[in-house]
Amino acid sequence: MNKYFKQYKWSNIFAMLHNQKLDPEICTDNFENRLVVITGATSGIGYETAKKYASHGADILCINRNEQKSKELCEILKSHYGTNCSYMLADFSKLDDTHKVAKKLAALDRDIDVLIHNAGVHLTNKTFTEDNLEQVFQTNYLSSFIINYYTKEKFIKQNRGRIIYVNSEAHRFSAWGLRLDDITYDKHSYSGLKSYGAAKLAQLLSMLKFEEYFSETGVTINAMHPGNVKTNSGESNGKLYKFFKKAIIDRNAISIENSSESLYFLGVSKKLENTSGKFFNLTTEEEPAPPALDRIEAEKLWLFSLEIGGLK
Ligand SMILES: NC(=O)c1ccc[n+]([C@@H]2O[C@H](COP(=O)([O-])OP(=O)(O)OC[C@H]3O[C@@H](n4cnc5c(N)ncnc54)[C@H](OP(=O)(O)O)[C@@H]3O)[C@@H](O)[C@H]2O)c1
Repeated sequence: MNKYFKQYKWSNIFAMLHNQKLDPEICTDNFENRLVVITGATSGIGYETAKKYASHGADILCINRNEQKSKELCEILKSHYGTNCSYMLADFSKLDDTHKVAKKLAALDRDIDVLIHNAGVHLTNKTFTEDNLEQVFQTNYLSSFIINYYTKEKFIKQNRGRIIYVNSEAHRFSAWGLRLDDITYDKHSYSGLKSYGAAKLAQLLSMLKFEEYFSETGVTINAMHPGNVKTNSGESNGKLYKFFKKAIIDRNAISIENSSESLYFLGVSKKLENTSGKFFNLTTEEEPAPPALDRIEAEKLWLFSLEIGGLK
């Protein structure tokens, strides 16, 4: 029997359904001369979030895999908002790229005010990276773990800063918990929802450990569901998924403005100065699914991530 079974509460599902209809809280504070790092800012939620922070005066440092799109983004931010925008290149499905960029971030000679882990993919077919890891797990979860791992001392030294995971309600699809014994899906079947849910669940578990690490400091780490929004997500999937996405998912999508406003609120609002280790549906705090609160699994995942992430 599922070891989490008894911990599931219907009230959490009703809360989720209720919360996703709420408008996000809005923060109007400005953020001039602050540095915001965003991964995957070349499209969708990351792109809109970069614009949102820039419109409030923040300096933007994005980490993207595509140089041309990065240049275009920085030109837009500079011309529209007069922002300082720079970029680093990294393909998060490559450990080598991720290590290099994480080291560069850790060595930055200025404080990082907000770090938003946004880059992510959804793949209906099982795909492996050149590091022989399942692609969604590596891109959506492991890269964010590696970046946090390298930059954690910098954050401690700063004694301030907010780390935000663009996570998902889809972590609930990993209802049985993580299968650390089979992250390559050799023993159990693969599906897009399973791999996506597992990667998002892993982020939430790692949040428990990083939150512990940052306790007693001014650094916070939180995760959020950005709403169901129409983006390029799933574009590399097959025709069936694309049909389903267009016909069902996109039809029920909310405005992407809600996602970027939420990410601005979570990164800037004074109301959240002392809030850490929490999951938000847009800007409403919510209880994640039981497997995301399992501290024993979080400990196992930490050790496992050090191992497969090449951090030992
Ligand atoms: N859309 C939704 O309804 C929804 C719901 C819940 C959670 N989310 C989460 O929101 C985040 C943003 O997704 P989105 O919907 O905005 O999708 P999107 O439009 O596809 O944007 C994804 C971003 O991640 C980048 N990226 C993907 N793979 C990468 C890699 N290997 N290395 C570096 N960058 C990579 C993409 O770069 P390129 O431009 O080069 O492709 C792009 O900038 C994801 O974490 C997703 O899981 C989205």
